[in-house]
Amino acid sequence: MEKYNVGVIGATGMVGQRFLTILENHPWFDVKVLAASGRSAGKPYAEAVGDRWAMKTPMPEKFKDIIVKDAETDVDEIAKEVDFVFCAVNLSKDETKALEQKYALAECPVMSNNSANRFTDDVPMIIPEINADHAKVIEAQRKRLGTKRGFISVKSNCSLQSYVPALYPLDKAFGVKDVLVCTYQAISGAGKTFERWPEMIDNVNPYIGGEEEKSEKEPLKIWGEVKDGKIVPAARPNFTAQCLRVPVTDGHMAAVFVRFENKPTKEQVLACWKNFSGRPQALDLPMAPKQFINYYEENDMPQTKLCRDLDKGMAIHTGRLREDTQYDYKFVCLSHNTLRGAAGGAVLMAELLCAEGYIDHKE
Ligand SMILES: NC(=O)c1ccc[n+]([C@@H]2O[C@H](COP(=O)([O-])OP(=O)(O)OC[C@H]3O[C@@H](n4cnc5c(N)ncnc54)[C@H](OP(=O)(O)O)[C@@H]3O)[C@@H](O)[C@H]2O)c1
Repeated sequence: MEKYNVGVIGATGMVGQRFLTILENHPWFDVKVLAASGRSAGKPYAEAVGDRWAMKTPMPEKFKDIIVKDAETDVDEIAKEVDFVFCAVNLSKDETKALEQKYALAECPVMSNNSANRFTDDVPMIIPEINADHAKVIEAQRKRLGTKRGFISVKSNCSLQSYVPALYPLDKAFGVKDVLVCTYQAISGAGKTFERWPEMIDNVNPYIGGEEEKSEKEPLKIWGEVKDGKIVPAARPNFTAQCLRVPVTDGHMAAVFVRFENKPTKEQVLACWKNFSGRPQALDLPMAPKQFINYYEENDMPQTKLCRDLDKGMAIHTGRLREDTQYDYKFVCLSHNTLRGAAGGAVLMAELLCAEGYIDHKE
């Protein structure tokens, strides 16, 4: 198969670095361009990152000498060199929106990890196993932008990528009414390591700015449907969330309480999780986990350190399912925040959009 040429915008950051570790040997995607801010532009990648390399594996040799481009001023040049870009930048919402639109208008599809366009109603927010069909809104977006190839597709916030996959198949089968969730989120979610955030060692921080709102609102867009060229968010389930920062490098855990319209048996819940799969599994996409939702019978599982990296860090892990006195059930779930929750989720989304014909090879 002819490979797609890709660029990584924000390549020096935490998510950008994660992209490069995933894409180093990717069977479909070949990284041709690395871009970041003007501070990094013009330098070889290794020098631009300096002591900020935060991955547990060494920086891939093949990227070290690539000269970093300026993500804001080199748009046209970058768009000419690649078939699409991944984007994870630390800019304000308006600046991010403007930057992503510049690439789309230059006929370069954007696979975004940023939150700026998550509520643009003709921009799909895709968890590939769940709402792959939202990609059809891209046609309306291209019409609005006046583009042939260019469009923006986003992935959702990392906090919800454990509990939304666990709840979605249950909703289809039994109707989910109310959800109360507390998340326990890793420091890499803030783009940090313990070296750069020593205050988090032996500590819990009860506040993550904007996270609770995202955790309650974004699931409703994912649950929504495409109507008249827009994604109309669902009116339910009702979500309420508290999000805490905990001293863990990678992996967001969530404690979930759920109330159903038709309460299933425990066996029905487990069967639902075991049997749930989506387009990525049907298409056998390279980044897709073989088993999407894994349930553990042991009381002390899933544990962050033991489970986060399994199946390319793309699987969802659930455990401790039991009846509750106020809700119908409670359980815990876990996903890797920079793999499934960020770069890995965006790579899977890109694979899906290539396989479904939304991204082609440029002539
Ligand atoms: N960390 C996670 O788990 C996670 C999960 C989901 C989504 N996200 C989102 O992903 C994005 C990046 O997060 P991160 O944790 O990777 O942040 P980060 O480590 O702070 O990296 C930010 C990146 O943005 C670049 N940048 C800053 N100003 C820029 C400009 N003016 N033009 C172009 N590039 C610029 C930086 O380049 P320089 O090195 O040159 O400054 C760097 O490459 C954010 O929108 C974040 O919300 C993060």
